[in-house]
Amino acid sequence: MRRPSLTIAVYPGSFDPATNGHVDIARRAAAIFEHLFVAVYDAPPKNVLFSTEERVTLLQKALKDTPNITVASFGGLLVDYTKAKGAKVIVRGLRAISDFEMEFQMALLNRKMEPTIDVVCLMTSEQYTFLSSSILKEIVMLGGNVNGLVPGHVAEAMKRKFSSRPDVGAIPRYLTS
Ligand code: PNS
Repeated sequence: MRRPSLTIAVYPGSFDPATNGHVDIARRAAAIFEHLFVAVYDAPPKNVLFSTEERVTLLQKALKDTPNITVASFGGLLVDYTKAKGAKVIVRGLRAISDFEMEFQMALLNRKMEPTIDVVCLMTSEQYTFLSSSILKEIVMLGGNVNGLVPGHVAEAMKRKFSSRPDVGAIPRYLTS
């Protein structure tokens, strides 16, 4: 069966780290668009737990079964990266109305900078609406279980990160992303 669209899209984010909600949005976007670039922002305005390379590697492993997805990092303006990839669409996931305000603002600013690019928001699947990377980091830091909420290898990487960084537990700023 033919794909309904032959458009290239970019799905950007901090992905610190990727959750099952992110993976779900990426797979659903890849079923709509001809090719999806999952773009890991290299300089989020918040403290990240994982390096850019680690965030890319974790996502690549999670999405390796979807051939029309490429995971890579990007820096600078999202609209510039999107244009450079030949894409006309930016994909974002919406978990709840509370996400909308920020997404609306970013979409309008991006359109102001680059009117040829549009934003498509996909609604998060019901079972993932409560997921957020920052809360999951707190759960793992405090010894809780995130199985089923993030890919298995991401859960392992989070546990390793917190056990190798005993200081992290004392630094609440890691939970602000
Ligand atoms: O997962 P996040 O943290 O909500 O993703 C935010 C992201 C990476 C999409 C946003 O910070 C971004 O686009 N950064 C790139 C720099 C840029 O273009 N900023 C202006 C956005 S209006």
